[in-house]
Amino acid sequence: MSFEDKTLVVTGTASGIGAATSALLIERGAHVIGLDLDEGDGPASNFVRCDLSNPAEIDNAIAKIDRPLHGLANVAGVPGSTSGETVMRVNVLGLRHLTEALLPRLEAGSAVVHVASGAGAGWRERLAPIRTLLQCRSFDDGLAWVRDHPMDGPEAYNFSKEVVIVYALAGSMLARPHGVRSLSISPGAVETPILKDFYDTMGKDILDRLKEQSGGRNGTPDDIARIIAFALSDDAAWLNGTDIGADGGSEVALSFDLVETSATDAVDAFFGRG
Ligand SMILES: NC(=O)c1ccc[n+]([C@@H]2O[C@H](COP(=O)([O-])OP(=O)(O)OC[C@H]3O[C@@H](n4cnc5c(N)ncnc54)[C@H](O)[C@@H]3O)[C@@H](O)[C@H]2O)c1
Repeated sequence: MSFEDKTLVVTGTASGIGAATSALLIERGAHVIGLDLDEGDGPASNFVRCDLSNPAEIDNAIAKIDRPLHGLANVAGVPGSTSGETVMRVNVLGLRHLTEALLPRLEAGSAVVHVASGAGAGWRERLAPIRTLLQCRSFDDGLAWVRDHPMDGPEAYNFSKEVVIVYALAGSMLARPHGVRSLSISPGAVETPILKDFYDTMGKDILDRLKEQSGGRNGTPDDIARIIAFALSDDAAWLNGTDIGADGGSEVALSFDLVETSATDAVDAFFGRG
């Protein structure tokens, strides 16, 4: 899985999953343009400072990118411990503004990979408001919608990830005109600085249960980076318009209420055997 002679934009390279993704892509030969609030210790071939909550800053950052591009990984995100508006600005409106501004610069054969979350699993139940938000064309129109539909931080976080999943699915239509694939990756709990916020906003009980189900550990940034790199690579050329769950199997166990049963009991319960 080589990225030799390829240039990719990765957001959130200062920390966690974005830093691990950037490091892995560079190791595999890519030139990575990293976008984040601050460079931090994160690896990037070329770092461009950018506040994704601000469309003018996104436009300025894009103006500094002068190479043809072969992929975009939207990894940066904020948790529900920030305000609902900030969550929606960074996780949805900035992500979309950046994606659509870079789209004409992506070479055919590229992929756009958005990091969503298992917290977005309920997107099917909220398709109507998600579509009305995504119908707002500009960042500012989207922001007006967000202000008309106020949410607290935790609610906005789940909704933001639902929107990202639907946006990734709809992006599959870009394959025909642009030759660009669109995917989302939905991690479960991952050991990064943001995880502490999730313990505060989602609660220890559910996160402990997820951890138990995924074999007694949370994901690592490298676990997720490898899946992002695969999704961006030519090896994934036939993956388009889908959300990839990356949670060690914890979400499905929780959905079917199989946690805390033995392995054999869980399989029996799954198939409804008495
Ligand atoms: N860690 C988890 O358990 C987990 C689970 C599911 C999904 N996610 C998602 O994974 C993604 C990466 O998170 P992480 O776990 O690596 O967390 P992290 O806090 O380590 O990294 C997030 C990065 O986003 C950057 N960022 C935040 N606001 C920004 C802004 N306005 N402009 C530019 N950059 C900004 C931060 O500076 C940071 O480098 C996020 O989208 C998050 O929602 C994380």
